[in-house]
Amino acid sequence: MTKLWGGRFQKTAEQWVDEFGASISFDQKLVLEDLQGSMAHVKMLSACKILPAQDAELILSGLQTLQQKAQNGELEYSVSNEDIHLNLEKLLIDEIGPVGGKLHTGRSRNDQVATDMHLYLKNRVTEIIELIEGFQSAIVEQAETHVETVVPGYTHLQRAQPISFGHHLMTYFWMLQRDKERMQESLKRIDVSPLGAGAMSGTSFPIDRELSAELLGFSGVYQNSLDAVSDRDFILEFLSNSSMLMMHLSRFAEEIILWSSEEFRFIELDDTFSTGSSIMPQKKNPDMAELVRGKTGRVYGNLFGLLTTLKGLPLAYNKDMQEDKEGMFDTVHTLMGSLPIFEGMIRTMNVNTASMEKAVNSDFSNATELADYLAAKGMPFREAHDVTGKLVFTCIQRGYYLKDLPLEDLQAASPLIEEDIYETLLPQTAVKRRNSLGGTGFDQVHHQLGLAKKLIG
Ligand code: ARG
Repeated sequence: MTKLWGGRFQKTAEQWVDEFGASISFDQKLVLEDLQGSMAHVKMLSACKILPAQDAELILSGLQTLQQKAQNGELEYSVSNEDIHLNLEKLLIDEIGPVGGKLHTGRSRNDQVATDMHLYLKNRVTEIIELIEGFQSAIVEQAETHVETVVPGYTHLQRAQPISFGHHLMTYFWMLQRDKERMQESLKRIDVSPLGAGAMSGTSFPIDRELSAELLGFSGVYQNSLDAVSDRDFILEFLSNSSMLMMHLSRFAEEIILWSSEEFRFIELDDTFSTGSSIMPQKKNPDMAELVRGKTGRVYGNLFGLLTTLKGLPLAYNKDMQEDKEGMFDTVHTLMGSLPIFEGMIRTMNVNTASMEKAVNSDFSNATELADYLAAKGMPFREAHDVTGKLVFTCIQRGYYLKDLPLEDLQAASPLIEEDIYETLLPQTAVKRRNSLGGTGFDQVHHQLGLAKKLIG
């Protein structure tokens, strides 16, 4: 088949060579953005009197027909037309005749493809921000129910100090808040029009880049034509922000998986977000959480793939850059799948407060309370730490917990200890009293929830 760019060629490539160079199998995802970009371009060409009004109208109506067909899934693409841009141009010419060939006046596929991706990401990032917010609201809902549910908090995966389960959950709210803010801030750099940069150097036609940018809803234009067609930072930034988001989801997934195990039994995932085993009838597996954790790998991979592709590319456009798309699409797809899954999983999970209570009452996570108690009575904290550590050791030897030690034994360790120590050692007391700003104290968690609710509107 003859190419739209075939003029200077004597021979045509074989099908398998065309297939290697073509991107139509994946960049057809950009069909609506490409048509939108073309419509703005032709309107601008007409407004600037570069194209006669009738030609522009004909082209516009042809583009509208293609848009309708695209929405109905009626467009047929061909590999020999390489990519979505040339396929659509060919389809337009088939639709309205040779006048369709005027569409590409003052434009190149280089500024065209960049425009498409800016449009695409602007929409997807906006949708992802909404998904993040939906997930945040599920966290708030669970956290609010469990402000006063006390669990062991961990460091090194060893019991550390008792905390509010709501406080623990809210940690993920704040991570997601930063992810959301990063996505929002990145819009500033996505929301810029490369259209009109041409192949790389601009154009001799008296175009109006600001007009086409405005028609596309962009807030600004690239100020350097080479930069406009060479820049893929906005995609890298998206992939990087997505990697951090997935890292957060993956950490959360890891906890969900641990908490669902027989060893913890802190939560039970709803049946609708769990799977069974083909051989072991008793199994209920947290597959969805594992998959989100697993998919984090491909999102990191997409970031590193594009960073590596771009490294060392001379200005301006190079065909290498066609490799920017699949990773971006894959990351969008992964995020759009993972966020609602996680939201549903969190909203529907059952929290096993009895297991949590049992756990937090049979450990030494209240040891800091005893040390703080002594320090508050004037003993240097380092000494209080030592006294408490020795008492913990005694308990371990006798098979007790601190609360089980008779008052005489405690007083033998330090005469500062009085009857009120037993109240102090209760996990509920320990949590309630940690009322420093941002601490796990119930009042602080309520305060935090109030701020969070304002942030998600
Ligand atoms: N399919 C190409 C891509 O995705 C479009 C730009 C092609 N430009 C060119 N000069 N070959 O990067």
